[in-house]
Amino acid sequence: MKRAVTPGTFDPITYGHLDVITRAAQLVDEVVVAVAASPSKSPLFSLEERTELAREATKHLDNVRVEPFDGLLVDFAREQGASVIVKGLRAITDFEYEFQMAALNYQLANELETVFIMSPPQYMYLSSSIVRELARLQSPVDQFVPPTVASALERKFVD
Ligand code: COA
Repeated sequence: MKRAVTPGTFDPITYGHLDVITRAAQLVDEVVVAVAASPSKSPLFSLEERTELAREATKHLDNVRVEPFDGLLVDFAREQGASVIVKGLRAITDFEYEFQMAALNYQLANELETVFIMSPPQYMYLSSSIVRELARLQSPVDQFVPPTVASALERKFVD
């Protein structure tokens, strides 16, 4: 069975992430969405909330499951029996950082292949922080995130 992990902080999950996850699910037998604790990012949503929102957003995809993790991505991928790390690549500005991460992960575990999926134009400039900022300013986020995420954001920023 070919298994991939799609890692991220998912604070919160957006349609951009879902595009990558959906396309990855068409390429492999199973996708494990790996929700990183990322304490250094001081996420708005707790790890449990981020995992739950990602589960809800991907429940229509039969070969996708969502798991939280804390620690090294390569350790988590090995634990899960994955052979591929799938990441989304948006604008050119993502490249240098992603290149560094892919090289580091290869150094740590060269049996793991990192594969990039290019974002379509409509999600090229989408990010979780933009969505959080819009929600904080009470601007609608429906075109960027699934309805459950939009409601969760609304609850976070209710006066
Ligand atoms: N569509 C929309 N947005 C996307 C996206 C896509 N396809 N791909 C990435 N993004 C956005 C995210 O929304 C996020 O936005 P924000 O920072 O504005 O909120 C941003 O890009 C960064 O994404 P994030 O999910 O934080 O991922 P990352 O690329 O910074 O990496 C991990 C996160 C979990 C993969 C990485 O930190 C990791 O592997 N951590 C585990 C520890 C480890 O192994 N570290 C490496 C060795 S030191």
